[in-house]
Amino acid sequence: MDSLTSPTPEISRTEALRRRYGATPPDDGPPSDGPWNETIASLLDHRSVRGFLADPLPAGTLETLIAAAQSAATSSNMQVWSAITVDDPATRKELASIAGNQKHIEQCPLYLCWIADLSRNERLGQAEQVELEALPWLETFMVACIDAALAAQNAVVAANALGLRTVYIGAMRNDPARVAALLGLPPRSFVVFGLCVGYADPEARNEVKPRLSQSTVLHRERYDATPERRDRALYDAELEKFSARNEMAATTWTRRVLNRMGPIASMNGRERLRATLARLGFEIR
Ligand SMILES: Cc1cc2nc3c(=O)[nH]c(=O)nc-3n(C[C@H](O)[C@H](O)[C@H](O)COP(=O)(O)O)c2cc1C
Repeated sequence: MDSLTSPTPEISRTEALRRRYGATPPDDGPPSDGPWNETIASLLDHRSVRGFLADPLPAGTLETLIAAAQSAATSSNMQVWSAITVDDPATRKELASIAGNQKHIEQCPLYLCWIADLSRNERLGQAEQVELEALPWLETFMVACIDAALAAQNAVVAANALGLRTVYIGAMRNDPARVAALLGLPPRSFVVFGLCVGYADPEARNEVKPRLSQSTVLHRERYDATPERRDRALYDAELEKFSARNEMAATTWTRRVLNRMGPIASMNGRERLRATLARLGFEIR
């Protein structure tokens, strides 16, 4: 049970960074003597899990995760997000099918849909008989998506701290209108992504997935793409080894990005998102 309740075993800072950046990161990564504590260790230990035990979550877990989510910063304190839990097996099955049959959606003990929710403010405006002129604008839509993402990530961090594991399900956006119908969403709300939460099945391989080196993503004063080519070659080699170890098709990061962003078919219907959002009440001017 220990490995379930504490998925962040005591590992050194050096080892945690090695897992996060791989065995051969460029030397311009984090220094060996930077700040370190349990929270950082837990953050660096993140990995998505796609195999869950059936064990239920302790009473109050959902509400604790939501309290963590509500503790995230939120634009102008408008709190333009909501979450919906889905327990009904038939609805879970439909959601899993929308998501290309991702079985973990049916297996996990807690499935949460995170909603960019402008409907609440719309109702507020109507109740107060004030037209909310800012409602249909792209900026407001982005605020709702950002709020939902920040809230969800706080819940993910809290879940990790409780010994749970998660995986986001962006594939809810394959068919947001169907998802909205299944969940009875009002106009001007849509599921940005789902989130599976539960105890990791020890059988499911779930190694920490290395990331791009810091010299690729962190710029100082001015954007500098110079290290990118060198770093990408190193990262490709790293991810190829990671994929082989984790029983995924052993391919490079470059190849994965090309597959994911090359053909329009890889969008799985999400190329229709703008039109679907319009049907869901998001005018997005
Ligand atoms: C918004 C979002 C949507 C995602 N959607 C899915 C998904 O539908 N299915 C899935 O298996 N993983 C999904 N993921 C997980 C990513 O694939 C994963 O985070 C990435 O490969 C990095 O791996 P790691 O989380 O284990 O570090 C999603 C992640 C994010 C942030």
